[in-house]
Amino acid sequence: MNTMTDDVKVRVEKIISKMSLRAKIGQLNQPETPVGSEAEEFKNAVRRGEIGSVLMSVGATAGNDAQGEINVDFYNELQRIAVEESPDGIPILFGRDVIHGHKTVFPIPLAMAASFNPELVGKCYRDIAVEATNDGIHWTFTPMLDLCRDPRWGRIIEGPGEDPYVGAAIARAIVGGVQGDDISKSDSMLACAKHFIGYGASEGGRDYHRTEISDYSLYNYYLPAFRAAVKAGALTVMSSFNDVNGQPVTSSKKYLTDILRDKAGFDGFVVSDYDAVTQLIKQGVAETPEQCAALSINAGLDMDMHDRCYIDYLENAVKSGTVSEAVIDEAVRRVLTVKIKAGLFEHPFAERKELDRTSHLADARALATESAVLLKNEGVLPIAKSAKVGLIGPFANERRSLLGSWTLDGKAEETPTLAEEMRKAAGDKLNVINSSTLAWDSTNKNIAASDVVVLAIGESWTATGESRAVSDITISADQKALIKKAKTYGKKTVGVIFCGRPIAMEEISGDLDAVVYVWHAGSEAAGAVSDILFGVSSPSGRLPVTLPRRATHIPLYYNVTSSGRPVDCYYGENPGNCYVDSMPVPCYPFGFGLTYTEFEYSAPVCESDKISLSDLEAGKRITVSADVKNTGAVTAKETVQLYIRDVCASLMRPMRELKGFKKTQIASGGTVKVSFDIGYDDLGFYDESGNYVVEKGKIKLFIGKNCLTENQTEIEII
Ligand code: GLC
Repeated sequence: MNTMTDDVKVRVEKIISKMSLRAKIGQLNQPETPVGSEAEEFKNAVRRGEIGSVLMSVGATAGNDAQGEINVDFYNELQRIAVEESPDGIPILFGRDVIHGHKTVFPIPLAMAASFNPELVGKCYRDIAVEATNDGIHWTFTPMLDLCRDPRWGRIIEGPGEDPYVGAAIARAIVGGVQGDDISKSDSMLACAKHFIGYGASEGGRDYHRTEISDYSLYNYYLPAFRAAVKAGALTVMSSFNDVNGQPVTSSKKYLTDILRDKAGFDGFVVSDYDAVTQLIKQGVAETPEQCAALSINAGLDMDMHDRCYIDYLENAVKSGTVSEAVIDEAVRRVLTVKIKAGLFEHPFAERKELDRTSHLADARALATESAVLLKNEGVLPIAKSAKVGLIGPFANERRSLLGSWTLDGKAEETPTLAEEMRKAAGDKLNVINSSTLAWDSTNKNIAASDVVVLAIGESWTATGESRAVSDITISADQKALIKKAKTYGKKTVGVIFCGRPIAMEEISGDLDAVVYVWHAGSEAAGAVSDILFGVSSPSGRLPVTLPRRATHIPLYYNVTSSGRPVDCYYGENPGNCYVDSMPVPCYPFGFGLTYTEFEYSAPVCESDKISLSDLEAGKRITVSADVKNTGAVTAKETVQLYIRDVCASLMRPMRELKGFKKTQIASGGTVKVSFDIGYDDLGFYDESGNYVVEKGKIKLFIGKNCLTENQTEIEII
């Protein structure tokens, strides 16, 4: 018997038994923070027990709009009213988009995925939770787990990229970091796996747009990260704005109950996205707000974010019989259970102690360093200490964009620029060329005096995040011109790319001698980039998402199934057959990244070339290994990747599926045996009904440095 669970159940039933219907619905109501004169009526609503949770931000796109400093005293006053003056004394659950940092800003989540270092990601989210809970935030709306293959979508920056295995690893890391080892502690914060489900497949990369996802794809690509979050203990999920195959997720029993709860085992509560309940009218499945409320609560949507649809219309829905009070009770049970598990009744108020963030900033620098991906290096990096360096470009003195979108509490003015950090490293050997017009003629003497020219280029944070889709994923024309001009000086050029999303690289990578993709990497981005440029750190990031040659090649992703005809262009097969006018092979493929050394892999060796299905079902695992040798002069970290290919199955399987990665530091001249233990959970797939199956037959196993590796062996499941 799980006494903890039973105690919680007893407490919940005791509370519910005394609650009015309106107070129950109040627990399912999450308005946003009141502004100005709204505050008094807001306090009265809290006093009446009509507010169960508060969204600690203002506006539908909090990730784009500056949010005020958290007024801890105001929220504590709301909490005091709830606890002392409302009919049932139930504490308010305060939630905020603490997506990739609080006062210390860490790299955007897509960059974190590029670190392929879940342990470090988890450590950083522990830092984040300590800072956020100190300001009275009980609940964050992260991890965002939307698998995405379309860089036009601005929200690709918030997620883990194009792979379900990386998505699952990031989900575990973030949930574990945010919730800590005991969710009831005051410095633990509730995680929220979002957006369930399929939002990253928005048609054309246009935000909020419709999606078409087969159940087969949903179970094998989009659901695994959410399963991992649930298994890691996530107690809340946010439903997504989009529809899947004509069903708005907000009001879909199939997705919110049959799949999320029955298939994936989720037992926490589901919160809607902002105003998503009333948007059902515009989506064409409801005619009145009361119908919106009834459809949503009956589908399994427990809490209504911002639009007041539940608090204003659910009582009528109960009276009219379209919603039973039992359904409302079930939703309230889920919310109260989470509040009790989170220790909210024991520590409802914020304390706001003085925090020393030194270690958090060090972790932010470490993660920014490990997230940067070295794409090209033709004898330029690391820059020699004696070299004269010219630094030019719109991101040389940039602060705000380095923080990225969804930065509600980080401060641009506290964010060092690349010029400032490089100055620390290079002193008077650095020549920062402040050419606002990027016209080179006036600066040629500066360039001529340089040995190496660093071009700080990228995209503004305002071109990324929610409601920020773009149709053109190339670098801006003036920055392309800057690269072309740099080339005319005959100097070694380094492109440092401060982008949030993946961009099309065909037009720029050829003109640069070295390219480092540094994303929007947070408070310590500039210091991390400087460390990499001058060799203090060796780059070790890998791409969690494909970098295409051009936007018109989208969608282009590595875990694609084979065609029956010779057009598997991702893997270089007859790309001329794909388009007659261009080669849609990736500019840089999934899992790709260079370091300042070289690594050699031995052929993979498996302890056996056969394993029985019955042994796998009984839990037997099989080990496959490769020796990885650092043949260069620099100690560095290599991310050794394990892929499989199920060459013949009852349904088509991808040409490569990532099933393991290990980031390993290997000394110059050293060799490390890297092993992967694989078993039942690694060798199967979900069928169209969502059943996990492992089938007999041959499975290729690849161990290499990115998805294109042909370093393989084979096992047979018999
Ligand atoms: C936004 C986003 C969601 C966010 C919520 C609260 O519209 O879609 O990711 O958590 O509203 O700000």
